[in-house]
Amino acid sequence: MVSAFATAAGRAVDAGFGAVEIHAAHGYLLHEFLSPLTNHRTDGYGGDRTARMRLTLEVARAVRAAVGERMPVLTRISATDWIEGGWTVEDSVVLAGELAAAGVDLVDASSGGAAARASIPVGPGYQVPLAARIRREAGVLTGAVGLIVEPEQAEQIVAGGEADLVLLGRELLRDPYWPRRAAAKLGAHPGWPDQYARAF
Ligand SMILES: Cc1cc2nc3c(=O)[nH]c(=O)nc-3n(C[C@H](O)[C@H](O)[C@H](O)COP(=O)(O)O)c2cc1C
Repeated sequence: MVSAFATAAGRAVDAGFGAVEIHAAHGYLLHEFLSPLTNHRTDGYGGDRTARMRLTLEVARAVRAAVGERMPVLTRISATDWIEGGWTVEDSVVLAGELAAAGVDLVDASSGGAAARASIPVGPGYQVPLAARIRREAGVLTGAVGLIVEPEQAEQIVAGGEADLVLLGRELLRDPYWPRRAAAKLGAHPGWPDQYARAF
């Protein structure tokens, strides 16, 4: 699995992508190893937090080695399982520091996905505090995601030091031109493709 992640990252670089992101969130394989809710192993990849983090950190080191020094490597984590006895934001602070040491440039703080019974306080920017806490306590770059839909809201998250970048999902499905609209609203100049110059 470790080499499969690394060769996938290498293919992404070969295909021309400008960054790679390791998916360690949302109940996918690496999250299943991280969370005590799902990792019941009795070998060296299960048990205490250090053992549960082992696969994710092996993947991070292998991906960094595969893509070279200059390619940005992000990792998306579920920063909390939102459930008693699950993975916590305190665990994420430790993981983020270890990920940075393994060559990861930025931790993208999502949440949930390990247990359907989790009670998630969904609302505007509800995961931003997770990114902020990891950034503050682990001293790593973070990304914030989840119900970020307004340009001013996005700007405040970055300008206020809660995260180093924001990621958008559904708002970009609704409005693929959101970054240009936001840039115009905030008085920035995003640059236009030559073909669009007459619209500027
Ligand atoms: C159609 C759809 C597909 C998604 N696929 C992925 C995915 O493959 N990987 C991932 O990390 N998140 C995925 N997400 C979650 C989004 O990346 C994002 O974290 C989530 O929608 C919350 O952000 P938002 O409120 O800006 O949409 C998906 C979301 C939607 C709506």
